[in-house]
Amino acid sequence: MPMTQTAKRKLSHIQTTLHEQVQSHVPTGFDDVRLIHKALPEIERDEIDLTTDMFGHKVRAPLIIESMTGGTPLAGKINRRLAKVAEKLGIGMGVGSQRAGVEDDRLASTYRVARDAAPSIPLFANLGCPQIAHEDALDHAKKAVDMIGAAGLFIHLNALQESVQFEGETNFSKMTEKIGKLASALSVPVLVKETGAGISMETARALEHAGVKGINVAGLGGTSWAGVEYYRARAKGYKVQMELGTTFWDWGTPTVPSIVEVANSTNLRVFASGGVRNGLHIAKAIALGAHYGGLALPMLKSASAGEQAATARLSIVIEELKNAMFLTGSRNLEELRHAPLVITGLTYQWLTQRGLDPGKYATRNQGSAKGM
Ligand SMILES: Cc1cc2nc3c(=O)[nH]c(=O)nc-3n(C[C@H](O)[C@H](O)[C@H](O)COP(=O)(O)O)c2cc1C
Repeated sequence: MPMTQTAKRKLSHIQTTLHEQVQSHVPTGFDDVRLIHKALPEIERDEIDLTTDMFGHKVRAPLIIESMTGGTPLAGKINRRLAKVAEKLGIGMGVGSQRAGVEDDRLASTYRVARDAAPSIPLFANLGCPQIAHEDALDHAKKAVDMIGAAGLFIHLNALQESVQFEGETNFSKMTEKIGKLASALSVPVLVKETGAGISMETARALEHAGVKGINVAGLGGTSWAGVEYYRARAKGYKVQMELGTTFWDWGTPTVPSIVEVANSTNLRVFASGGVRNGLHIAKAIALGAHYGGLALPMLKSASAGEQAATARLSIVIEELKNAMFLTGSRNLEELRHAPLVITGLTYQWLTQRGLDPGKYATRNQGSAKGM
């Protein structure tokens, strides 16, 4: 199989994220959130319903394996493995940027394997802003969607990464307009995701107005893409990019404030990701207004250990989510969305300064509590 520049970069991303310390130093904010424990849950744990709709598909849990890879034989192997796991558990999955597969038909199979291994689940296509800026944007998007029979297309925003990367593409002019054009022309929903720096309420509103149907906040607190590019720059001796990577390592909106900002300012479907590491994180995200949670790097790591390890990892996440639902007396995800919680610390300060009311979650649902 040919190794294009894009494919080489994708391979080095996998190697760097697997073998270097690429975690952000800033917390997601999940530790600032406490769901109120219900000592008398008044429900049967075994009857808790985790199912939900994911863009026209019923999934068994509100969960996706985040967009990560494709374009090389190793990436194809990882996609196949992750897709098998997602199919087994009945959850969603995103493939990585399909630029390589769109530019070179011979690489399309490294993405298509995900559909072959997972015939029934919602898969999400993925393209970056440079492909949207291209005059063939609609053709490229259709090709990416058809390649995997996608339920939607994620356009990833990675201005931070591109600005730190030596070969970065930094023309983001009129991007909202371009995303809007694509959203009105494509037959499947166009969704937007960040890649570890979060999405603010201002950007979320602009994207909703442009016609986007969902936002994956991919906030700060998990994998740092400035960090990943720091290591790549170091390997090549690019001093300026090393400095940029170090200085901007922790740039962005942490995941929890980002979820609250987007959920409170739009009516869009919200994916919570960026440092989501367990099912309790997902429960908190849903109680804050998200609809789904997603994990990236932990799934790459467990998948590289094998299909069984990846299945075990996600099965635990689902059990943890279920447990948080039990302990908040939530029979289903809709009830979890109304579970009371308290926000403290930096997240409280962040939300207050941004004009949001972090106290509004603390006293809700008291009517049903009194009625018990
Ligand atoms: C190896 C790797 C490759 C990634 N490639 C893509 C990509 O092609 N497109 C995309 O939208 N996000 C990509 N991401 C970003 C993730 O989807 C996610 O937003 C980010 O890593 C934060 O989640 P995490 O903290 O769980 O890793 C990638 C992440 C990893 C670890």
